[in-house]
Amino acid sequence: MLSDLKLKDGSSFPRLGMGTWLLGENPGTHEEEIKALRTGLEEGLTLIDTAEMYGNGLSEKLIGEAISGRSRDSLYLVSKVLPSNAGGDRLERSLDTTLKRLGTDHLDMYLYHWRGGYSLEETVFCLEKMVRKGKILRWGVSNFDTDDMEELLSVPGGENCCVNQVLYHLGSRGIEFELLPFLKEEGIPVMAYCPLAQAGSLKSRLLTSPVLKTVADKYGVSVMQLLLMFVLHNENVCAIPRSGKASHVKQNIQAASIDFKDEDFRIISEAFPAPEHKTYLDIV
Ligand SMILES: NC(=O)c1ccc[n+]([C@@H]2O[C@H](COP(=O)([O-])OP(=O)(O)OC[C@H]3O[C@@H](n4cnc5c(N)ncnc54)[C@H](OP(=O)(O)O)[C@@H]3O)[C@@H](O)[C@H]2O)c1
Repeated sequence: MLSDLKLKDGSSFPRLGMGTWLLGENPGTHEEEIKALRTGLEEGLTLIDTAEMYGNGLSEKLIGEAISGRSRDSLYLVSKVLPSNAGGDRLERSLDTTLKRLGTDHLDMYLYHWRGGYSLEETVFCLEKMVRKGKILRWGVSNFDTDDMEELLSVPGGENCCVNQVLYHLGSRGIEFELLPFLKEEGIPVMAYCPLAQAGSLKSRLLTSPVLKTVADKYGVSVMQLLLMFVLHNENVCAIPRSGKASHVKQNIQAASIDFKDEDFRIISEAFPAPEHKTYLDIV
């Protein structure tokens, strides 16, 4: 497994976690999903990413069930507040509901899901208050581009932002032009969401690319695992692939432990190059 990242508050941050969007919504796959999450935890993963938005709390409830009985210290729980709840008394109420669903008294990381109507000053004030109350250990943002980050870092307390969770995969490399170097300079890791391009569906030709197939074969992995290896090759990035299948979770853990050679990274990088100019931040 890759060694942890260091956050600006000095704490460690895992390089690989489990995403949970769309999990917990289908009773027919409930047991399989619980098994997938528990397999990840048993195989050494600690970080689970969720959001109050996912299934309107059903993802958080599923996680609460999957982690029940586990030592809280062995978990790194991340959830997100919706923009409409990111100010006034609403943020704490949202957070309390999230904590209840998860069956815990604190989050390791709380993210502002995307920018909405509340001012950044207001949202940061509320997040900092939750840190002081011990309900969250730290906070970050999601879907913030460079100009949003600059604005955030200029408001009181904004400098305490620990991560930015954005879309990043081999077929969507816009953040490499400006945002990724900016965040590195600021000591803020990226949490890459959709690292598998949602099983390849976000970018045509990824899964059928002969170049990717050849490199994947060389390492004895699937193209999906190769997509994860690509994202994790960047030293300032954590990835949170989602799977509701234990076998896929195991594959993702295996991919994260592979020593991906620079020369092979270059080959797939050239097949799906990063833009050479500033582009809009991709979101889903
Ligand atoms: N902050 C935001 O705005 C935002 C937005 C989107 C996502 N996210 C977070 O990021 C996480 C990841 O993104 P995502 O869920 O959209 O997409 P993703 O992780 O890129 O792709 C998930 C898809 O890949 C499949 N998969 C996973 N591992 C596989 C493997 N080893 N082999 C083959 N298929 C595999 C899954 O199917 P199986 O279940 O069959 O394995 C699923 O269909 C989310 O779950 C969520 O936690 C955040």
